[in-house]
Amino acid sequence: MKIFKISLIFILILSGLYFFMTNSLLAEQAGSEDIIIYTKPVKAVSFNHKAHSEDYGISCNICHDKLFQMEASNVEKKGDFNHKSFSKGKYCGACHDGKKGFAMDKQCTRCHIGAKGLNKTGKK
Ligand code: HEC
Ligand code: HEC
Ligand code: HEC
Repeated sequence: MKIFKISLIFILILSGLYFFMTNSLLAEQAGSEDIIIYTKPVKAVSFNHKAHSEDYGISCNICHDKLFQMEASNVEKKGDFNHKSFSKGKYCGACHDGKKGFAMDKQCTRCHIGAKGLNKTGKK
C-alpha cells in the first residue's frame, strides 16, 4: 500500500514537471521572433516584439487580433500598411500617436532602420 502511495506521488510530480516544461516551451515559441523587420512598402522598419510585449508590459490581446494577426509579416500583404492608416489609428498608429507611444511625425529613424540597418540583420 505504501509503495503504491509513493509511486502515485512520484507520478504526480512527474506529470507536473511535464506540464510546466511544455508550457514554457510554448511560451518560448510564441516569442520566437523577437524582432520583426518590415520591408514593404519601404525598406526597412524594425519592430521589437519582445520589448513591446515584455518591457512595455502591453498585453497580447491589445494587439492580437485587433491590430495584428499572430503571423510575422502578414500585415505587409494588406496594402494599407502605411502612414495614411497609422494616422487614422490603425496598426502601429493605434499607439504611436504621441500619447501611448512616441509620435510618428518625427524621430523617423527610431523605426526606419533603412537599408543599411537591414543588411546588418542579414535578412534580405
Ligand atoms: C504592441 C503590439 C503587440 C503585442 C503587445 C504583442 N504582439 Fe505579437 N505580434 C505583433 C506584431 C506587429 C506581429 C507581427 C504581425 C505581422 O507582421 O503581420 C506579432 C506577431 C506575433 C506572432 C507570430 C510570430 C511569428 O514568428 O510568426 C505570435 C505567435 C505572437 N505575436 C504572439 C504574441 C503573444 C503571445 C503576445 C503576448 C505575450 C504578443 N504577441 C504581444 C504585435 C504585438
Ligand atoms: C499597443 C501599443 C503599441 C503598438 C500597437 C505599437 N507600439 Fe511601439 N511602442 C509602444 C510603447 C508604449 C513604446 C515605449 C514608449 C515609447 O518609446 O514611446 C513603444 C516603443 C517603440 C519603439 C522604440 C523602442 C523599441 O522597441 O525598439 C519602436 C521603434 C516602436 N515602438 C515601433 C513600433 C512599430 C514599428 C509598431 C508597428 C509595427 C509599433 N511600435 C506598434 C506601444 C506600441
Ligand atoms: C513608430 C514607427 C514609425 C515611425 C516613427 C515612422 N515610421 Fe514610417 N513606417 C513605419 C511602418 C511600420 C511602415 C510600413 C512598413 C514598411 O514600409 O516597411 C512605414 C512606412 C513608411 C513609408 C512608406 C509608406 C507610406 O506611408 O508612404 C514612408 C515613406 C515612411 N514610412 C516615412 C516615414 C517618415 C518620413 C517618418 C518620420 C517623419 C516615419 N516614417 C516615421 C513605421 C514608422
